[in-house]
Amino acid sequence: MSAVRRFQPDDPQLLADLEQQATQHGWRVGQYRDSLAAGYPCYGLFDDAGALIGFALIMRVLDEAEILNIVIAKEHQGQGRGFALLQAVLGELRDDCCRRLFLEVRESNTPARRLYQRCGFHQCGLRKNYYPAAHGREHAILMEASL
Ligand SMILES: CC(C)(COP(=O)(O)OP(=O)(O)OC[C@H]1O[C@@H](n2cnc3c(N)ncnc32)[C@H](O)[C@@H]1OP(=O)(O)O)[C@@H](O)C(=O)NCCC(=O)NCCS
Repeated sequence: MSAVRRFQPDDPQLLADLEQQATQHGWRVGQYRDSLAAGYPCYGLFDDAGALIGFALIMRVLDEAEILNIVIAKEHQGQGRGFALLQAVLGELRDDCCRRLFLEVRESNTPARRLYQRCGFHQCGLRKNYYPAAHGREHAILMEASL
């Protein structure tokens, strides 16, 4: 069992560390520090012992929002945790009168794109050569969902 709740991490390093072992394209700790200082909502996925095993960071503007990042700890990936976390976040935003949601994702990030499609997102744009990649650059897929 696991639980999702909004929380304010005491130390942004907690988020950076979790992401660093989950993906090679992680944010710098300063990006987390700035986002939390700006008051962007953070939702955590916690295991039974209360340990953080995933999180989603959201930027909210009026009745729209953007998923800035969503991460599940490496050892918990591929077990439906990302789906559970995103479904809970979508429910919270819907209850809070959010109507449209946006995100961007690397073209090569198959797990994330499948997760988003399963949660009702569809592609609404493409930013060519947006992200630095191991060999050159790769496109960003822009996605949106109605709540
Ligand atoms: C993207 C991420 C949050 C998904 O969380 P997860 O718990 O691993 O995903 P789930 O187990 O809930 O599965 C969601 C979908 O992804 C698919 N998936 C999960 N792991 C996969 C893998 N390694 N390869 C291919 N598809 C995969 C699942 O099959 C499922 O799709 P389906 O419903 O069509 O079968 C997680 O993989 C992660 O933290 N990745 C690193 C950070 C990242 O890339 N974040 C997204 C930034 S835009």
